Amino acid sequence: MEQKTIQTMFSSKSDKWSTPQAFYDELNKVHNFTLDPCCDEESKKCEKFFTEKDNGLQQSWRGETVFMNPPYGREIKKWLAKAHSESKNPNTKVVCLVPARTDTKYWHEHCMSADKLYLIKGRLKFGDSKNSAPFPSAIVVFDSESDRDSPEVTAMNSNGKPLWTLKVTKSEV
Ligand SMILES: C[S@@+](CC[C@H](N)C(=O)[O-])C[C@H]1O[C@@H](n2cnc3c(N)ncnc32)[C@H](O)[C@@H]1O
Repeated sequence: MEQKTIQTMFSSKSDKWSTPQAFYDELNKVHNFTLDPCCDEESKKCEKFFTEKDNGLQQSWRGETVFMNPPYGREIKKWLAKAHSESKNPNTKVVCLVPARTDTKYWHEHCMSADKLYLIKGRLKFGDSKNSAPFPSAIVVFDSESDRDSPEVTAMNSNGKPLWTLKVTKSEV
């Protein structure tokens, strides 16, 4: 890979990590998404979508089944906060594809209180790239219809197929 391509891929400024279509299709079979809140005309995954011009962070996601693959820069924490809070509306589910940055404050504030976590085995190949991403990914599901107080944790293949589930309960240590 050329040095320039590597620099762009590794930069936190890059927010164009388009979801691999086959991976999205696998998740869509399960969830039937109705809204992509962060995309552009080329990368949109649903008929209903918001681009940077609309500013998806300022729109309502109420009543939607949302597929959210947000910009991966510093703004990511605002997107996870938005996903978490929108999922408190009735009939609202937000499925997030995010880097598995389990050391961050926003991971602990939001993802650790999600309803489901899918930890992806292997690395995704975003967009048209032949190369795997330089970071691990996870699917984080916030679902208004769930009554869980701790996430169900599932291992997932990089083609979007679940492998096995770990039942966990939340307790003080
Ligand atoms: C990681 S890409 C994901 C694109 C697409 N949703 C997908 O899954 O392939 C993030 C996208 O969010 C868009 N974006 C950035 N800021 C935004 C905003 N405030 N509102 C809506 N979209 C935004 C970027 O232009 C980029 O296309």
